[in-house]
Amino acid sequence: MLIKKPDEIKSSEITDQKVYLNRRLFIRGAVLAGSVAATGLLYRKLNPPAAVVEEQPKIAGIVKPPSDESMRQGFKVNEAPTSFEDITNYNNFYEFSTEKRSVASEARGFITRPWTVEVGGLVNKPKTFDLDDLLKLAPQEERIYRHRCVEAWSMVIPWVGFSLNALLKQVEPLSTARYVAFQTLLDPKRLPNQSTSVLDWPYVEGLRLDEAMHPLTILATGLYGGTLPPQDGAPIRLVVPWKYGYKGIKSIVKISLVADEPPTTWNIQVPEWYGFYSNVNPNVSQTRWSQATEHRIGEYSSRPTLLFNGYAEQVGHLYQGMDLNVNY
Ligand code: MTE
Repeated sequence: MLIKKPDEIKSSEITDQKVYLNRRLFIRGAVLAGSVAATGLLYRKLNPPAAVVEEQPKIAGIVKPPSDESMRQGFKVNEAPTSFEDITNYNNFYEFSTEKRSVASEARGFITRPWTVEVGGLVNKPKTFDLDDLLKLAPQEERIYRHRCVEAWSMVIPWVGFSLNALLKQVEPLSTARYVAFQTLLDPKRLPNQSTSVLDWPYVEGLRLDEAMHPLTILATGLYGGTLPPQDGAPIRLVVPWKYGYKGIKSIVKISLVADEPPTTWNIQVPEWYGFYSNVNPNVSQTRWSQATEHRIGEYSSRPTLLFNGYAEQVGHLYQGMDLNVNY
């Protein structure tokens, strides 16, 4: 697939970078966060509470598996991409900084070669891949996805990457494998905030195996046609567009197929707020603020948040019969 380089992208395709509604809200949150010593309180501090209402029925009846056509539509959302400037300067990457606007400068110079990803656990063929192996494993595709943070801001990001299932198929999961666990690099010399206790390190995440095998789930190796900037999770990060952004673990070094639900970083911090599934759901606000609307970075007004971040047609069948209020 042809991937545009940043300089080939028409300015009309790029959202005005100067429009930052609500931005001050989040900056204020970030400043507050700097003074917070205890872990797990960060999201609380980063987000002003708003009174919210919750009640959520089970996911409604009919959930058909998606057609190939609807899957293809999910690969490229028909919405204006957020500017490169915002995508690369408004980041959550606590290993570098808890202040979104400082991550890019703190991450500058992060060395991502050589880089290996160890893939093992309940598989027939465990293997350690270096980055070049991974880049050759499957064609690098552009995927234009909505990106919804639990903090109620969102973006549209033109990722470059490949479906995680291409990697998992290579190692041949055993029938006992039911989940996939992911781990970020642990190296306080290169990820300086790992010498603080702001989170439990390394950052870890997990998916159910069928979620991991879903074609929308990708390992991103780039964005806007270029390589992945350090602040966005270089050299390789997970992107699961129907889940809150914190599931998108950055700078991955280890992937393990496991039998039981693996621990996940934000669930360890505040389990009552951050569940294992973390599917975007406007009706369930386990946090103290509403998830019903979101602020698209670069736009003036807020917009309604969509169930599964607008990917219900593609992923709804994965959760058929599950109570999304319990499995949040
Ligand atoms: N991965 C690691 N290793 N460390 C982090 O702090 N933050 C998460 C996720 N992945 C995080 C991480 C959160 S909270 C979000 S919202 C997204 O990365 C942000 O991705 P972005 O900066 O590319 O928008």
